[in-house]
Amino acid sequence: MSEKKNTLILEPTKENIEKAAKIIRKGGLVAFPTETVYGLGADAMNADAVGRIYEAKGRPSDNPMIVHISRASDIGQLTPMLSPQIVEIIDNFWPGPLTIVVKKKPSVPDRTTGGLDTVAVRLPDSEVARELISASCCPIAAPSANLSGGPSPTRAQDVIDDMNGRIDAIITGEDCRVGIESTVLDLSGEEPVILRPGIITAEAIEAALGREVKYDDSLKEAAKHVQLDPSQGVSESDFKPKSPGMKYKHYAPKAEMVVVEGERERVKEEIARLKALNEKIGNRVGVILFEEKAFLEAAHDFFAKLRDLDNEGVDMILAGALSDSDGVGFAVMNRMLKSAGYNIVKV
Ligand code: TXA
Ligand code: MG
Repeated sequence: MSEKKNTLILEPTKENIEKAAKIIRKGGLVAFPTETVYGLGADAMNADAVGRIYEAKGRPSDNPMIVHISRASDIGQLTPMLSPQIVEIIDNFWPGPLTIVVKKKPSVPDRTTGGLDTVAVRLPDSEVARELISASCCPIAAPSANLSGGPSPTRAQDVIDDMNGRIDAIITGEDCRVGIESTVLDLSGEEPVILRPGIITAEAIEAALGREVKYDDSLKEAAKHVQLDPSQGVSESDFKPKSPGMKYKHYAPKAEMVVVEGERERVKEEIARLKALNEKIGNRVGVILFEEKAFLEAAHDFFAKLRDLDNEGVDMILAGALSDSDGVGFAVMNRMLKSAGYNIVKV
């Protein structure tokens, strides 16, 4: 980032949304609430504006972005054709936390799609988001409004913490209802494939389409990486992933993080044991342990808890795994394992 910007902090009034829309139209950057997480938006059709998003986030520039629209019919600006399958999905799930990947029109800049011949499109159900997009008179490209690598922002303050001084404006609003990012469903090929799990689950999409919907192989693979045998003790060096490639930073808190997985009571015991052990050597330890079946609540709270614990300055976070046989549990676990760099203790 070259210079520090004077970031406008705007409550979501009609007037302020108009002001923010003007910034978007001029090629500026505006963070705004959606029902999933806060987004960092720019005019999706303006390659220079989209480039500034990468800069503000400190994000590698080949990552494709989600393009947000305010009316389903606006998808026509982005894709040359709708299949019956795409129409079915739009009818069932929009507006809402589901992004679809479809073939792109040549007019969508490569900057926006990371050079792919497809584009990811989402119609959010957040009214503030839709009003901003509509007032901007253009589709808005928006990744999550956090610094690259860190937990996604689900509260206005999280966005202010990460983006103040880096972008033109932040529209504040309520805490995000969902708390994890949208499900990403690839509809550009023959078979529908889930590229990123979210609260709209494979089962719900299968029910709408009347056919099988697969998770991308990489999602299942990642979940299999088991790291630690607790019977061998818990020295510092144990908390390193066995496969270095898995340690790309994504959603990561500042603290070291370990996920404890297994039968509920044993998970609780192991967390208590590791906590005591680490406190004994002077470390501050934070714990994230959701109710066993409260999957939506876990989705809602997970990123916020990571940020709260970082703000408290803990050295280490111990998190209890959720069951990933539930679709929403699977989506939360996808984030939890990445946050922890795949440091897992099985009990
Ligand atoms: O809930 C959300 O989706 C939030 C809010 C702000 O709407 N946005 C968000 O954007 O999470 P981002 O940039 O953090 O995530 C974009 C995801 C990435 O996993 C990316 O790889 C995928 O969408 N994606 C984007 N375009 C794609 C494409 N053409 N093909 C395949 N995957 C794509
Ligand atoms: Mg993100």
